[in-house]
Amino acid sequence: MAAFTSNKTHHFLTRKLTTPTRRPLKSTRVRMSLQESGPSLAVVGVSGAVGQEFLSVISDRDFPYRSIKMLASKRSAGKPLTFQGRTYTIEELTEDSFDGVDIALFSAGGSISKTFGPVAVGKGAIVVDNSSAFRMEEAVPLVIPEVNPEAIRGFKVGMGKGALIANPNCSTIICLMAATPLHRRAKVTRMVVSTYQAASGAGAAAMEELELQTREVLEGKPPTCNIFNQQYAFNLFSHNAPVLSNGYNEEEIKLVKETRKIWNDMNVRVTATCIRVPVMRAHAESVNLQFEKPLDEETARDILKNAPGVVVIDDRASNHFPTPLEVSNKDDVAVGRIRRDLSQNGDHGLDIFVCGDQIRKGAALNAIQIAEMLL
Ligand SMILES: NC(=O)c1ccc[n+]([C@@H]2O[C@H](COP(=O)([O-])OP(=O)(O)OC[C@H]3O[C@@H](n4cnc5c(N)ncnc54)[C@H](OP(=O)(O)O)[C@@H]3O)[C@@H](O)[C@H]2O)c1
Repeated sequence: MAAFTSNKTHHFLTRKLTTPTRRPLKSTRVRMSLQESGPSLAVVGVSGAVGQEFLSVISDRDFPYRSIKMLASKRSAGKPLTFQGRTYTIEELTEDSFDGVDIALFSAGGSISKTFGPVAVGKGAIVVDNSSAFRMEEAVPLVIPEVNPEAIRGFKVGMGKGALIANPNCSTIICLMAATPLHRRAKVTRMVVSTYQAASGAGAAAMEELELQTREVLEGKPPTCNIFNQQYAFNLFSHNAPVLSNGYNEEEIKLVKETRKIWNDMNVRVTATCIRVPVMRAHAESVNLQFEKPLDEETARDILKNAPGVVVIDDRASNHFPTPLEVSNKDDVAVGRIRRDLSQNGDHGLDIFVCGDQIRKGAALNAIQIAEMLL
C-alpha cells in the first residue's frame, strides 16, 4: 500500500473538533515559502474552510511566493492572521485588491467569483477559482492535474495576460481521481455515483453546526438548524443543493457535466445521488463503472495502486476499507471495495468505494497543484 503523502497533526480544522470556539485565524506551520522570485498571491476567502486550507497547503508544499494578500469580507477585515511566522491583517476584498497580483486563489462563493474574478483577470492575474461560477464556460479550463493537465498547457505566470482556471467540484475530483486511471485502460461508458458528503463541504459554519447539534441532541435539547433546514446530527439527508425540475439536485448535475468536460467525452453516461452524512470532514463515494473493454478486478487494483494521488485500502480479510477519518487531512484519495459488478456481463463492470478529503484534494490542494503548474 502506498504511503499517504501528507499527515498533519495540528491542522486548524482538526483542532476545531476539540474547541467549540470560532477557529483561530492562523496556521501554525513555520516553514517559509516567502521568496523574492516567487509570484505574488492573493487568497480570497482566507477566513473560510478552503481559504485556511490554502495556507496549510502552501506551507506543506513550500509553494513559493514573494507576497501574499489575505482577503475576505468586511466581517473579517482588520483581523490579524499569523502565517509562516508573519502577522498579516485580513483586508476587505475590493476592486483594488488585485493590483500587482500574479495568482489569485478564490474560495468565497460563486457570486464573489463572478464579480471579482473578471476584475482580477483584468488586472493580469491568473485566477484559480474554487466555486462553480465558471466551470462550464467553454473557454475556462476545468482541471485536475493528475487527470487533464493538458487543459492548461501554456498557462504561465508572466504570460502577459490574466486568465481564469476552474477547480472542479469536490465530489467530481474525488470520483475522477479513482475512475480516470481505469477509464484510460478500459473506457468508462457509464458511471453511477452515490455520495456520502461531509459537513466540511458546506464550509466552516456547517462544521460548527454539526458539532453544536451533536452536543444539543446528546443533552436532549432541540438542535439548532441555521445552515441546514433539518437535523443533521444522527441523521442524513439529500444534499442541500437546489433541486432542479428534473429531480436531480445541482450537486448531482455537477458530477454529470464536469465529468464530461474533464474527460472531454460528451458521450459518457453519468448519474449521481448526493447525500449529506454527519461526518465532519472528507467525502465518501460509491462508484459503479461500466466499461467498453474488459477490465478484471486484479488489473484494476494494480492500475489504482500505481495511480498518482491514489492509495488502495482493500483488505477483505480484515474488512478494512477507506473511511473518511483515515483520509482526513491527507492528500491522497483512498480506494477500496474493488470488485467485479455481478450484475454486468464478464469483466465489463466494477464497483469501487472512494474516500477523499474534499477540503484538501477536493479544493485547496488541487488548486495549489494547478498554481504549481503555472510557475
Ligand atoms: N468546503 C469545501 O469542501 C469546498 C470544496 C470545493 C469548493 N468549495 C467552494 O469554495 C468556496 C468557499 O467554501 P468554504 O467551504 O471555504 O466556505 P466558508 O468556510 O463559508 O468560507 C467562505 C469565505 O468566503 C468569504 N466571503 C464571504 N462573503 C464575502 C465577501 N462579500 N467578500 C469577500 N469574502 C467573502 C468569507 O469571509 P468572512 O469570514 O469574512 O465572511 C470566508 O472567508 C465556495 O464557493 C465553495 O463552493 C468548497
